[in-house]
Amino acid sequence: MNQDQLKKLVADAALKHVVEDRVVGVGSGSTVNLFIDALASIKGRIEGAVAASGASAERLRKHGIRVFDLNSVDELPVYVDGADEVTEHLHMIKGGGGALTREKIVAAVARKFVCICDASKLVPVLGRFPLPLEVIPMARSHVGREMLKRGAQPVLRENFKTDNGNLIIDCHGLTLLDPPRLEAELNNIAGLVANGIFARRPADVLLLAADSGVRTVTL
Ligand code: A5P
Repeated sequence: MNQDQLKKLVADAALKHVVEDRVVGVGSGSTVNLFIDALASIKGRIEGAVAASGASAERLRKHGIRVFDLNSVDELPVYVDGADEVTEHLHMIKGGGGALTREKIVAAVARKFVCICDASKLVPVLGRFPLPLEVIPMARSHVGREMLKRGAQPVLRENFKTDNGNLIIDCHGLTLLDPPRLEAELNNIAGLVANGIFARRPADVLLLAADSGVRTVTL
């Protein structure tokens, strides 16, 4: 199977985690797009969705799925999202699509985070994928200097603005030996809105698609 077929396989497999008659949290990216398409087949059995990006919200609406504002939802039983890298500890790097802040907010509300990936995303140690940071524009240089001090090569994502009107800095060359610690440390840099390490609130379930089928990983 090619990567697109694996993404479709895992997107379909995530449907069994969706709770009937409730609002489902939906992340963003190409794997999630396929999940949204799959969700359309059971749209009569869910109340609607909360989306972590404008693009996902638009795709949900096109399928006739009601999109709720997160503030109007008291509880979110499940959040389904992809990742750029994931470990067996269910720590992730996310933000390749630039939606990391909203993804982190929705993940924080959700009771269960279901991460859907093809097997190429599984790594022993996070960091080969450049770590995305969402940054307030006036803090760009400050955050860049802070990341240089930590041994990273920060690169401003060209011609890109997040859904929140901010910038993305991609940090190359990091090896994340202790993801929860680095996540917390980076959270203290002024002007850095969110970093793409998802370790303090890891996934609860990882669905990993390979030629042999979809493997479920839990802690
Ligand atoms: C979006 O900001 C990301 O966090 C995505 O979840 C991640 O980039 C995975 O995307 P793909 O499913 O397109 O690989």
